[in-house]
Amino acid sequence: MKMKKKLVADLIEWKKLREHREVIDQQPLPELFRLDPERGRRFRVEACGILLDYSKNRITSDTMKLLFSLAEAVDLRSEIEAMFTGEKINNTEGRAVLHTALRSANDDPVLVDGTDVKPAVRQVLDRMKECSRRIREGEWKGFTGKPVTRIINIGIGGSDLGPAMACQALHPYAEAGLEFFFVSNIDGTHLAESLKGADPETTLFIVASKTFTTLETMANAMSAREWLINSLGSGEAVRQHFIALSTSTAKVQEFGISPENIFGFWDWVGGRYSLPSAIGLSLMIAVGPENFQELLDGYSAMDNHFRTAEFESNLPVIMGLLGVWYNNFFGAQSHAILPYDQYLARFPAYLQQADMESNGKSVTREGHPVEWETGPVIWGEPGTNGQHAFYQLLHQGTKVVPADFIGFARSQNPMGDHHRKLMANFFAQTEALAFGKSASEVRKEGIPEDLVPHKVFTGNRPTNTLLARELDPHTLGSLIALYEHKIFVQGIIWGINSFDQMGVELGKVLAKKILPELDPGQELSQEHDSSTNNLISWFRENC
Ligand code: F6P
Repeated sequence: MKMKKKLVADLIEWKKLREHREVIDQQPLPELFRLDPERGRRFRVEACGILLDYSKNRITSDTMKLLFSLAEAVDLRSEIEAMFTGEKINNTEGRAVLHTALRSANDDPVLVDGTDVKPAVRQVLDRMKECSRRIREGEWKGFTGKPVTRIINIGIGGSDLGPAMACQALHPYAEAGLEFFFVSNIDGTHLAESLKGADPETTLFIVASKTFTTLETMANAMSAREWLINSLGSGEAVRQHFIALSTSTAKVQEFGISPENIFGFWDWVGGRYSLPSAIGLSLMIAVGPENFQELLDGYSAMDNHFRTAEFESNLPVIMGLLGVWYNNFFGAQSHAILPYDQYLARFPAYLQQADMESNGKSVTREGHPVEWETGPVIWGEPGTNGQHAFYQLLHQGTKVVPADFIGFARSQNPMGDHHRKLMANFFAQTEALAFGKSASEVRKEGIPEDLVPHKVFTGNRPTNTLLARELDPHTLGSLIALYEHKIFVQGIIWGINSFDQMGVELGKVLAKKILPELDPGQELSQEHDSSTNNLISWFRENC
């Protein structure tokens, strides 16, 4: 039986970190760099082709020692093992958390309720490969005998964001003859736009839903089915034009999708961790099975690194601990993800779900209210666009916003000196954020005295820099796994269950209740609060 853990805020390591914050307050980043010319080399690690420079953080070697001791104190090492070996660490749902088994490169068994999960993983992967091959080679024929040209993935949350983000990220690896659309929003506009110009004879729908009950996905899938049947004049067409990715075979069959077109996964794969499962089928079709395997290998390399590397050189551990440092000891409310690569435009949105649905909790695993801050708000945009929008606040605002800058040595689209200009901005931003510009430097430029305060950059603003050679499938896999494990580390430190998402339920229940009340033909119930009642009435009068 496991010993009952102390609450994190009661740990001596936590208290020491709180005291240490005051020491760090006396040591701004420019000073730390001046005192230690080796700092840029001291605080960097490289693994799985990703270089992390974390020297521009408000830390010293003492800070890192204290943070690593905190990780030891919460027994992070054995918690990592518990996840990898299939313990039911999602305690509120009684489930194992085994997204790592989806991409494991070895044959070591991983048992859930006494059964090794890996053979089933391999079997689904093999079926996905065969299906992708048939579609890519034009062997998969629609109802009228034509090959597929447009693929519409219908899903939401983890059943949308992963494949949508990765299809965009790996666009240079995609099969030229196929078009991909991702429909998630229940707003009919989303589906309607994806059907514009679609040829029903060559359109394939992939309905991605772990539960196969999600309101948005079901509504979109039903409208897509209606569109197909009306266009092709036969319900039989569904067989060749619909694929399902789900844990619920029964519900998929009820919907009318043939068993041979169902790709399953398991309750131990969380929605936001499901890209390497069957949920990645649209991506596999886009980039091909070899590239998909490369992605899995990239994930797996980072999994091994996370599981085996010392904390001092462990990328996810270091990033997780730095996040805790700002979140809990500097009052940082948010964390920016700033990829300097247009293909990673959806990466911040992807990480928003991964992080905020995992760590947006306010009770401990045992159900007690937490007395410390948990997950930050995750947000971001690709560089350099953000520089001309919200970076003003990053440089001169009143808030601490730790940021991850993600860049690549090589562009997928070399064009003149664009990439050098992009990367010059990339390096300039973290330098400016750390070192700023003092009033005396401003005055030396001859700036009138009344403008000096406006032109001062305080600096001392923390950033991580992540650099890799290029955005290829392997690197993308490693990058995603890096963030998944960073989220895990933080969840362990905060003592919360990162693997349920009960906070999404209440809104769903109320929406179901309100739906019939929006019909102007129905008698208006006054069951809600006065605001909601008035809003519903206004809608009914104006719709
Ligand atoms: O409502 C939240 C959520 O359950 C996410 O966790 C999940 O990724 C998404 O909805 C979609 O769920 P499903 O794949 O079951 O349709």
